[in-house]
Amino acid sequence: MPADNELWPAWLPIRSELRELKPYGAPQIANVIHLNTNENPFELPKAVAEALRARIEVIASSLNRYPDRDAATLRTDLANYINLAAGTDFDLNNVWAANGSNEILQTLLLACGGVDSLVLGFTPSYSVHPLIAKITGTPWKSGSRNADFTLDAPAAVLEISTIAPALVFITTPNNPTGNALAINEIRELAIAALNVGALLVVDEAYQEFSNELSAVTLISEFPNIVVTRTMSKAFAFAGARVGYLIARPEVIDAMLIARLPYHLSSLTQAAAQVALKHQSELQAEVQILIAERNRIAAAIIALGLSVIPSSANFLLFTGFRKSAELLWQEFLDGGVLIRDVGLPGYLRVTVGTAAENDHFLALLQRLAP
Ligand SMILES: Cc1ncc(COP(=O)(O)O)c(C=O)c1O
Repeated sequence: MPADNELWPAWLPIRSELRELKPYGAPQIANVIHLNTNENPFELPKAVAEALRARIEVIASSLNRYPDRDAATLRTDLANYINLAAGTDFDLNNVWAANGSNEILQTLLLACGGVDSLVLGFTPSYSVHPLIAKITGTPWKSGSRNADFTLDAPAAVLEISTIAPALVFITTPNNPTGNALAINEIRELAIAALNVGALLVVDEAYQEFSNELSAVTLISEFPNIVVTRTMSKAFAFAGARVGYLIARPEVIDAMLIARLPYHLSSLTQAAAQVALKHQSELQAEVQILIAERNRIAAAIIALGLSVIPSSANFLLFTGFRKSAELLWQEFLDGGVLIRDVGLPGYLRVTVGTAAENDHFLALLQRLAP
């Protein structure tokens, strides 16, 4: 797709604000170790794959029919999953599901964004947030972080109060930095947002890897908190595309207005329900990844480099003398694809299997000092 203004043909009425954009996406390269998109490295356990096959066989003959438009059973299962983890009391009226949390965020901004609704986010953070804002015609403002990428909660509260946005986005654990907010910090942001009539959107894509309490526990107190989640990471289900949102029922009603009819296929709904049934097997792998994350972090530090403390399934590291671009290329030449997130002097690595992580660490030892 042409990204250059000159290359868009005169007959194509692409919106002027999109003309300078390039399609988003990390490189997809064959025959290398993929540690660049924060996927879960484990294939689905045999029992889960078997159960999926059996379920698809059952629903295959009814694919002539549209899916349950409102995905009621899946939303109930997701509410139960959250309640079990967080001790909350949600039901399907508090949950909305879609094709990945990216679609959740886009639908949310279709419903609550737009030209008159400023979004405030604290960068560096998930780079798709400002992109979705742009695509939905919603103005975006970047708030700041500390030099070590932690969020200065009192400064953020001040920014919310003075800027008075319609929506505030926070990501915790944050991508690409890995650090998480404490629940009392989220509460402070929620109060500030409520005072200016803003929604606080908490992107918890990596929550299962964190020890901090989820923001879902604040929803009964704060109507303006919306939490987005995904099955792409902890459930090893990125290819199935399932994300969801937890919020007050009024937010779900707004999502129902903005969603496309039949947006979530019968196959996706059924697959997600099977994965949720097998949550304990899948969650066991999260513990392995946390242990591997801590092992890699210690090894990076032992090499004399620095790493941002991570509550997610990836690590942002620094302290190498080469440019990030050069080191990224050298890693690729050595057969490991990591992520240059555009922060000078930093690279991000996703936690892989033990063997993949060993390969990464061996390369790091050879290339980085
Ligand atoms: C912070 C954050 N939010 C959302 C997503 C999107 O996840 P999904 O696969 O559910 O669209 C990602 C993916 O990497 C992410 O890092």
